[in-house]
Amino acid sequence: MNHVSLPASWRSVLPHLDEPLPPDRSPESPAGGSDAGVSVNLPFALVRQSSQNREFWDIPAEVLDAYRSFRPTPLWRARRFEDAVGARVPIYVKYEGGNISGSHKLNTALAQAHYYAKAGVKELVTGTGAGQWGTALAAACSMFGLRCRVFMVGTSLQKKPYRGTLMRALGATVHASPSELTDVAARVGGGVNSLALAIGEAVEYAGRTEGAAFCIGSGETYSILHQSVIGLEAIEQLAELEATVDSVVGCVGAGSNFGGIALPFFADAATTGAECPRLVAAESSTTPKLTRGVYAYDKTDATGVSPMEAMYTIGSSYPIPDSHSAGLRFHGAAKVISAMRHRDQVTAQAVGQVEALQAGQAFTRSEMVLPAPESGHALAVAARLATDGGSSRGVVACVSGHGYLDLSAYQQLLDGELTTEPPEEQALVSAMDRLRPVPGLAVAGSGRGV
Ligand SMILES: Cc1ncc(COP(=O)(O)O)c(C=O)c1O
Repeated sequence: MNHVSLPASWRSVLPHLDEPLPPDRSPESPAGGSDAGVSVNLPFALVRQSSQNREFWDIPAEVLDAYRSFRPTPLWRARRFEDAVGARVPIYVKYEGGNISGSHKLNTALAQAHYYAKAGVKELVTGTGAGQWGTALAAACSMFGLRCRVFMVGTSLQKKPYRGTLMRALGATVHASPSELTDVAARVGGGVNSLALAIGEAVEYAGRTEGAAFCIGSGETYSILHQSVIGLEAIEQLAELEATVDSVVGCVGAGSNFGGIALPFFADAATTGAECPRLVAAESSTTPKLTRGVYAYDKTDATGVSPMEAMYTIGSSYPIPDSHSAGLRFHGAAKVISAMRHRDQVTAQAVGQVEALQAGQAFTRSEMVLPAPESGHALAVAARLATDGGSSRGVVACVSGHGYLDLSAYQQLLDGELTTEPPEEQALVSAMDRLRPVPGLAVAGSGRGV
């Protein structure tokens, strides 16, 4: 199972899309018109990786060296989990939790820190929900000699104080969001605890700090590219096991984990002419952008200064209910994933936190790996596909992270105190009301999740 080699290149899906992605828009001209040239403060390498129709991108030697300490990650057939859930087809899992950050986030954190350091930046500032991204960036900054500042969603930091400790041990400065450091937090108000606000705080702070740059863990096309190492390894590992799968599952916050496991299968099928497996995004029922959202231009953060992106969204103004899967509490899906969703090239299912943690507990008992609550969503969907006939050959699911800092969630599950509260239809409708449809579509397509 572990004879595969570390990929030497990332693989982009962009050349295999039949249309270019809709361009970003300036927040000053949300209706269009003077959209061209929305300025982004990014190292040139990341701009190129987001916009060029090139398929293979060499992984820089420094990043490859860092990857070697935790990649290739294991992939195995989870036979005991199959038995536990009554699967009728094989379930394979790809495990990304075995690194210092505890999740897939380190794959892009290392790449980004490398490019920013080369561009002369001294400090990276970011927002984080569950804390895995913040931890990954703290580790990557430490590797590449950068300072790191993290705004973490306050309720998450309260629930998981050791996430903050870990980031600080890695050298980062950590603030609970909303903090008292930014205008956006003062404007939006103390009651809001969202990833969009934490990101907004980081954007504002970086913007006014000499030598600092804001950077983001997921959703951007380059971060999905960096995560392609997951799917590239998985394809090789499945081939080595002589396994064929007809479903690929990953959970979705903004989309880099799902994109990382799934899109290389799409690129591979497009190249070989083989049938592409069903690519299924597992989202939280508290943030059902791909199953109940609209395809429209929306903000990616709460400041409104970042470019507006074409995405499936439940509206950046929607007050997302609290949940243990903080990493999935993001209102929109990455523009690549959204465009593919719109063309039915990827599909989605929503999962409540009770079902996700039950799948996580079943996985813990059967496979001796404690998954993050976020990853429990992917396992729940994998179990559904493998049992209800959605898959006839086999499923591969990405277990995006470990759950050792999420034991309070499992404790609530075991104590019978956990509930799932999906958004009310009316609340969703009013949050999506003011959004602008992506041009060319008569009506912003409403989610058609299965
Ligand atoms: C363990 C884990 N899985 C999945 C996700 C969602 O990742 P993405 O934003 O890449 O979709 C997160 C995000 O924080 C996470 O921490």
